[in-house]
Amino acid sequence: MSVGKVFVTRRIRDAGLDILVEGGAEVRVWEGPEDAGPEKPEVVAGARWADVLLSLLTEPIDREVMEANPSLRGIAQFAVGYDNIDVETATELGIPVSNTPGVLTDTTADLTWALLMAASRNIVSGDRYMRGGNYKLWGPNLLLGEDTSPGGDGRRKVLGIVGYGRIGQAVARRAVGFDMRILAHDPYAREAIEADEQVEWAELDGLLEASDFVTIHTLLSDETRHLISTAELDKMKPTAYLVNAARGPIVDEAALVEALRAHKIAGAGLDVYEREPEMEPGLAELENTVLLPHLGSASRGTRDKMASMAATNAVAMLRGEPAPNCVNAGVYDSAAYAGRLGN
Ligand code: DGY
Repeated sequence: MSVGKVFVTRRIRDAGLDILVEGGAEVRVWEGPEDAGPEKPEVVAGARWADVLLSLLTEPIDREVMEANPSLRGIAQFAVGYDNIDVETATELGIPVSNTPGVLTDTTADLTWALLMAASRNIVSGDRYMRGGNYKLWGPNLLLGEDTSPGGDGRRKVLGIVGYGRIGQAVARRAVGFDMRILAHDPYAREAIEADEQVEWAELDGLLEASDFVTIHTLLSDETRHLISTAELDKMKPTAYLVNAARGPIVDEAALVEALRAHKIAGAGLDVYEREPEMEPGLAELENTVLLPHLGSASRGTRDKMASMAATNAVAMLRGEPAPNCVNAGVYDSAAYAGRLGN
């Protein structure tokens, strides 16, 4: 017998769908092409039909979606970031929201490192050069990049980590292997930074001025939107690289294109965009960038784990039990939540 209905806004890996079915859920998955997503009315209709919504970061889950169903028991997000969900409204309406923390930390840190290396050592432009049939003769000045290790000048390169949560810390662990000097800034993790012997606390301006590589790992919030704009880019060294595998709107993309075009910084590695999937005009034409389509957590193993975690949260929500990864756990004590369960 079904314990309730789950609407999955886009197809996730079977590892998650199997957990939903084994947990007794009746499952409906939005079926559409991989490179499109449901239109808003389809998400609203799904929310109206379901007891629990299993959402992806590509679907805005706002008041209209939530108010479509006074009995909706939860929203289980398939991502660690949940800025597409209006959590304040969810809490007001008594709807628990969960995410998938922890399971994608290393995969995202690896991708961050790949972007950093690719941008600073011309991995992608070198590949284009080869495929374009341009390689005629090895030369001492061919496609020169910057070291991440002490390298030629023997100077330990400086990595500035903005946002010292799980992923920022995992990036720091990688930087230790490259013998980098590591600076970190995160007003919410100052103690953790100061407790870490390998890392030095820095104010944002100081970090930007001193770093050879700046990598962003904050959440997207009103506080972090456009945290990196013209004034901040102006503080960076002309030889420095910016990497963003967190959320696009943290960086003012128009200001970044301007800075890259004017060679105010050496280059950028981006996995996320301000108006994803669109890119700021001019970005794609710049040679000093490496651009990826939001691949941070994109390994088979990690996407299986994310699917399993989101599904486990959804099954708990269906059963009226606290979701293990609830981001607004206070909701469980509210009358609004009790009302949704018919108590
Ligand atoms: C997340 O989980 O927030 C990533 O952006 C996608 O895995």
